[in-house]
Amino acid sequence: EVRGASYQQFVRQHVDHPKTSAPNDRVYCNVLMQRRGLTQRRCKPINTFIHAPTGQLRAICVREGRPVGGNLYDSNRSFSVTTCRVLPGSRPPNCRYRAATGVTKVRVACVRRLPVHLEPTYLP
Ligand SMILES: *[C@@H]1O[C@H](CO)[C@@H](O)[C@H](O)[C@H]1NC(C)=O
Repeated sequence: EVRGASYQQFVRQHVDHPKTSAPNDRVYCNVLMQRRGLTQRRCKPINTFIHAPTGQLRAICVREGRPVGGNLYDSNRSFSVTTCRVLPGSRPPNCRYRAATGVTKVRVACVRRLPVHLEPTYLP
């Protein structure tokens, strides 16, 4: 694996800053899930986008996070997030989602001081 590959995947799957504009959050989820390649083989059932600069998320692994065991860290600060959950029966290429928004801390796994995985712990 190329160094940083998982971090790039984390950014692709979980970071959207500033939040892409859409008529409503449901449309936001339908568009972003597709645009980020999360609806190709199957509709990814659940995914959260964090609306914060990547630097603030990298900082969780370095100085703005609290270690909670293993390589997991809880962010000190809260972030604006949107969680997309697939609607039953929807299939590629027409994955349809419902959306939940919130402001919450996040829990990430860090490898070589980069976030590579988002834990569902705090998600709306
Ligand atoms: C984040 O929280 C941890 C644990 O409470 C603390 O040690 C650290 O100083 C905090 N970082 C910042 C930048 O406030």
